Amino acid sequence: MATPHIKANKGDFAKVVLMPGDPLRAKWIAETFLKDIVLVNEVRGILAYTGYTKNGKKISVMASGMGQPSIAIYSHELFAEYGVEAIIRVGTCGAYQPNIDLRDVLICMSASTDSNLSNALGLVGSYSASADFELVQTAYEVAKRRNAKFHVGNILSSDVFYNFDKEGWKKWANLGIMGVEMESYALFVNAALLHKKALCLLTVSDSFVKSDILTSDERQTGLVNMIEIAIETAEKFSD
Ligand code: HPA
Repeated sequence: MATPHIKANKGDFAKVVLMPGDPLRAKWIAETFLKDIVLVNEVRGILAYTGYTKNGKKISVMASGMGQPSIAIYSHELFAEYGVEAIIRVGTCGAYQPNIDLRDVLICMSASTDSNLSNALGLVGSYSASADFELVQTAYEVAKRRNAKFHVGNILSSDVFYNFDKEGWKKWANLGIMGVEMESYALFVNAALLHKKALCLLTVSDSFVKSDILTSDERQTGLVNMIEIAIETAEKFSD
């Protein structure tokens, strides 16, 4: 079986999929945190693996690519055609708040957007995209127990990385938006449309309010904390 963008067999994916943006990060997550991994997709270099956690739970990891149209395509095909029940995005973001430091983990309860996706749904009004409550609650409990430095709240899924308006982010920050990435709104919309579950966890890789820069080792530590929270959360929803 194949869908337009995934060449895998039915049953190749676990019920829960972790979804980083970068295909090489999907490979690193699978090789570092899972055992008995099998490569189940490589169409367009969008690597996907299925394997088992150290507690024997079956989990898949698949890249989303960058941006809302890309994650919308892959999440739709996984939810609609491959029996996937939950997708947990594991990404990075730029922080908008002074109390949010590099490497902190964000548990995204909801996502706002500057994209036109809400209009494309044909609604009279705009859709408030939110994560699945059980996934948020589980990630919160896991993060708390692990003593992680984390924040729960709303983020901005932007369609623009190189913004010519250098001040526009401040209006979102003023509404309490924790930070900016480019995928979660579309993921949450797809999960809602297809009656599935979604969550987004982010590690802060840069900041609009602080000038610190992470070394690659520091960046890796932040990622490891987030992936461990994501895997422990995923285990509660997998076979
Ligand atoms: N903007 C958008 N997406 C991002 C950023 C950013 O600053 N950092 C990591 N992902």
